[in-house]
This record gives sequence, C-alpha cells and structure tokens, in this order.
Amino acid sequence: MKEKFLANSLYVHFPFCRHLCNYCDFFKRVPQSQSEVVDFHSLLEFQKKQLDQILFEENVSFGQLKSLYFGGGTPSLWGESGALFWKQFMIKHQIDLDPNCEFTMELNPGSWKKSDLEHWKELGLNRISMGMQSLDQRFIKILDRVHNREDALETLEMLKQSELNFSVDFMLGLPHSKDFKRDIIAELIEVLKYNPSHLSLYILTVKSNYVHQKDIPDEEYIEEEYLTVSSFLKEQGFEHYEVSNFAKPGLRSFHNSQYWKQESTLALGPSATGFLKEAQLRFKWKESDQPDIENLNSEELKLEKIFLQLRTDMGLSEEDFSLESRPTFLKLTRDWQENRQLGEWQNGRFRLGAKGYLVMDSLLNELMAHELA
Ligand SMILES: C[S@@+](CC[C@H](N)C(=O)[O-])C[C@H]1O[C@@H](n2cnc3c(N)ncnc32)[C@H](O)[C@@H]1O
Ligand code: SF4
Repeated sequence: MKEKFLANSLYVHFPFCRHLCNYCDFFKRVPQSQSEVVDFHSLLEFQKKQLDQILFEENVSFGQLKSLYFGGGTPSLWGESGALFWKQFMIKHQIDLDPNCEFTMELNPGSWKKSDLEHWKELGLNRISMGMQSLDQRFIKILDRVHNREDALETLEMLKQSELNFSVDFMLGLPHSKDFKRDIIAELIEVLKYNPSHLSLYILTVKSNYVHQKDIPDEEYIEEEYLTVSSFLKEQGFEHYEVSNFAKPGLRSFHNSQYWKQESTLALGPSATGFLKEAQLRFKWKESDQPDIENLNSEELKLEKIFLQLRTDMGLSEEDFSLESRPTFLKLTRDWQENRQLGEWQNGRFRLGAKGYLVMDSLLNELMAHELA
C-alpha cells in the first residue's frame, strides 16, 4: 500500500467586508443580504467535496490541524452564525485540531463583537491578526478605512485584556506620508504598549490608476521608512524573520511559516490557494467552479525554495545549489555582504538583512543570471 501523506494546515478565505478600502486588491465584496453568507457556506461545502477528490487522487489526507487561518476579507464579521456553521462543518467533515493548533482570525477595528469572539474561542481560536494599517487618523481616512483611531485603540485594549496572542498589520509608503510627516515610530510605540507578539509591515502596493497615486512618497522615502522600522523593532526585541514580518522570540506565525517552508497547506473559500508538497501541486479556487491546478516540476520548486528561503531568515546554504553553481553563489553573496552590506554569512548560511530584503528581487535575478537554480 502507498504511504498516505498528511496536510496539517488549513486556510479559509472569508470574502466579505463592511466597506471597501480604496487600495485593496483582495477578492472581497460588501454583502447585500444575509443570503450571500448562506451561499458562501454552500460554496465551502461544494469546495470541500472537490478538495476531498483531489486529496484522494493525490493520496493526501486532512491531518489533525496544526494551524487554521481565517483570512479575508474581514472574517471577524462572520460572527456567531459563522462559529456555529464552522463547528458543524468540522464535525461533519471530521476536521480535528491538534491540541496546540495555532488558530488565527483576521480582525478589523469596528468589525467585531466581543460576544462573537467568545464563540470562536470556544472552538479553539487563540490568535488574532488585527488590520490596523496606521494609528494616525489622517492616514486611516486617506485609505478610506471604515474604522477610526478610537476603534483601533478600543480593539487593542480588548486584545490586551483577552487571552489571545495577537499580531498587528501596518502599511508603509502611505499617500501623503512625506508631506504630512507620518511618525511611524510614534505609532509603533503606542501599539507596543498593548504588547502584540507579532507585527506585519507591508509596503503599500497599488495599481497605476490608484486614486492617491500622485501622493505616494518616492522610493527613497519608503526605503528609509522600512529600514527605520526594522531597526526600531529589532531594538524592541522583535526578530525580523521575513521581509514584512516581525515576531517576539518563539512567537512567529506558524501558519505563514508553512508557506515559506514549502509545507502542504489546504485551502477553502473563493480565491484561496493551497499547496500539496508531495504531489508537487498548487490549486487555486475560483468563485464557484473547479479549482485551477498547477503541477510544478522539480526545477520550479527548487527556484521557489531559493526565493522563499531568501525572503526569510532561513537564508541559503551551499547545499541549496549544485556543485557547479556553488563557487558563483559564494562569490555573489560575499560581494553582497562585504561591498553592499545586504546580508551576512553566519553558521554556514547566508541571510539577508533589511537592506537586502528591499532589493530581494534584483538579487534573485543576479543569482538566476548565473544559472544557479
Ligand atoms: C488579507 S488583508 C486584509 C485584512 C483586513 N481585512 C484589513 O483590512 O485589515 C491582510 C493585510 O494585507 C495588507 N494589505 C492589504 N492590501 C494591501 C496593499 N494593497 N498593499 C500592501 N498591503 C496590503 C494589510 O496590512 C492587511 O491588513
Ligand atoms: S477591510 Fe481589508 S479586505 Fe476589506 S477592503 Fe479593506 S483591506 Fe480589503
């Protein structure tokens, strides 16, 4: 009998928001009636059947989940009825959580209720990823967020008092940051008083027709902002363990680390993407159809592995390259360390620092130009 593979992480995409922010390119909408949520529940059932078929064909099963992540949209809006649906869904499909499962939900200020969270906690919720973006009312308004600064502070206070481990999302490179003199460090100091274990700081990425395109600061300003934030958070005891992610020791996101380590991740919900490691297959859901399936060959996976290791503090070692490519890898990384201060060799691995993360794509191109993958 063939060995059965287990997948231990599940991502569920909840596609609804109270209001749409002007920069957001995620798959989401404002529901016009409760029936859209009911349709979403039916979609999850439909997708679970399809997923079971794919897993059966690839000899993979749902293992006890070590991570479960509800992303969005705004899953904190799913509320009590969502918790009830999810409880029944888990029972019906025999989805079990490992006793130490990292169970995360994205939550927006102004889009949660304490009583709803209690229902989710009963199901095992133990981590929140809060979408703050900025604690300065001027930028919250520019981004057309539905919440205000007071809502953000109230959410931080609730999280501080709850038993939940939590992360806070910020965005850098916001429109008008330069002319309004955004003080990102002051914002971070205020947030750190509430003791988050984890922070994500993303550089705003938008399409060319973005409504505030002309007000986005220049590249040098954004790079400086990123470097300032990275050194500040490191001084505060956070590890800069991935391009956009910072954690207190021992409190990295297990779920996201599964992606970066190329481990299998199951996925449900419109536009969610999953990966089956042993089957070398990625699947991407569309709203109400079969998923798109991409088979990856070993070369593609090896290239992805290099990219993923470079973007995290896993870094790269000689063993990641063929014997012929190693001298070039060593030569390039020595140049990056000694002449450009982009990263460092330590204990047999080369890791990028914040300066290196900023130019990661061009470094990857340099590696590839030397046929290193
Ligand atoms: C899945 S999103 C949504 C989270 C939540 N709905 C919210 O709005 O706070 C997760 C995070 O991605 C980041 N993000 C969203 N749109 C972005 C963009 N256009 N550029 C950079 N980061 C973005 C934000 O920091 C956001 O909190
Ligand atoms: S709330 Fe989050 S997911 Fe919804 S539109 Fe705003 S950024 Fe996008």
